[in-house]
Amino acid sequence: MIKFDFETYMKEFDNRHDYQIKVNKIKDKLEVSGDMNDWYDLDKCVPSEVLSDILDTSAFIRQNCDVFLVIGVGGSSLGARAITEAFKPYFEDKHPEIIFLGSSLSSSYLEELIEYIKDKEVIVNVISKSGSTFETNLYFDYLYEELKKKYSKEELNKRIIITTDIKEGSLRELVDQKNYKSFVFPTNIGGRYSVLTVVGLLPIAVMGIDIVEIIRGARELNKEVAFDYAITRDLLYKDGKVVESFTIYEPKLLSFVEWIKQLLAETQGKNNLGILPVATLNTGDLHSLGQYYQEGSRILFETVINIDDSTDITIDKYNKKLDSINRIVANQVAKSHQKDETYSNFITLDRLTAYNLGQLIYFFEIAAATGAYLLEVNPFDQPGVSDYKKLVARELEKGE
Ligand code: PA5
Repeated sequence: MIKFDFETYMKEFDNRHDYQIKVNKIKDKLEVSGDMNDWYDLDKCVPSEVLSDILDTSAFIRQNCDVFLVIGVGGSSLGARAITEAFKPYFEDKHPEIIFLGSSLSSSYLEELIEYIKDKEVIVNVISKSGSTFETNLYFDYLYEELKKKYSKEELNKRIIITTDIKEGSLRELVDQKNYKSFVFPTNIGGRYSVLTVVGLLPIAVMGIDIVEIIRGARELNKEVAFDYAITRDLLYKDGKVVESFTIYEPKLLSFVEWIKQLLAETQGKNNLGILPVATLNTGDLHSLGQYYQEGSRILFETVINIDDSTDITIDKYNKKLDSINRIVANQVAKSHQKDETYSNFITLDRLTAYNLGQLIYFFEIAAATGAYLLEVNPFDQPGVSDYKKLVARELEKGE
């Protein structure tokens, strides 16, 4: 269960009802299947035959590798990372180990990775809708050559899994040539809206997380809360709050916040508009960013994502559970920030479960797209990202 509270630590706005007509129009737009919004229809995200294939393939992967390497960038990998890291034990190794590759060009990381997997059994899932993303292709090509040295053709055939467009791009060409196992990246769903499709669900299932529960959580979301949240954000933005801190008190949610950041920034940050999403991990950041949030420029609001109940650990000195102490801190921080006009939304999960995270993913997807429509920008493109890619390609083509 999740409790959404956009009132207690929030400014009162008396013009919420002005949004009714606009938001109804947005709902209609999302309901009608159109360009890139198939993610809104959960039946289209994972048709039952794809779900069975994901479950069978994930069982095969779990039994046949020590390391499951997911190569992809941005929306192609952040969602899977968000969920798998939320459920990763702090101090226990999981088998198989999941490693995500693609979000930097660190040569020392690559060198150490190659050494690390040298004597381990590896299965690779390369994920790219376009099949032409520079970082993804660079890493996949490099790893592919390494794996060719290590495995026979037959063995390699079981160890490469490609998730890409149904017909376009170099990865689809490779599937056609070599007959590697492949999944279709849904045509009408963009990277950042793809967690609840095979793109996110396969790596999540490999880590033994219940993907059926994730989907059930999403299906049972009361969508109205997502529209309410989008309205609150828009009201705050028009009131001069141009930065939104996603504030957490559980480090396991850090990658989840990375996913939210990407979803919101790429969806709304265009035409010189949009709220800048940032991450805050308390209580550590109370001794760092907290000063700014309390007394710095009045440009920011917070969306706190909290977990009510994780363990039974009790702190005798206060005769309270540690989880309750964490909750008290979160509430008192919000109260004190509110006094200085730094307002907070509160999203409280009763526990960290697959069901709750499924619900939260769908909640943020709906809020992100709605927020973009309120700003009158296209939620599903990212022209600013394409720009730098062209410049890099031009430089690289020049050679040394
Ligand atoms: O959300 C998005 O659409 C982007 O972040 C893409 O996921 C990212 O650029 C990777 O693209 P691709 O899947 O084509 O490799």
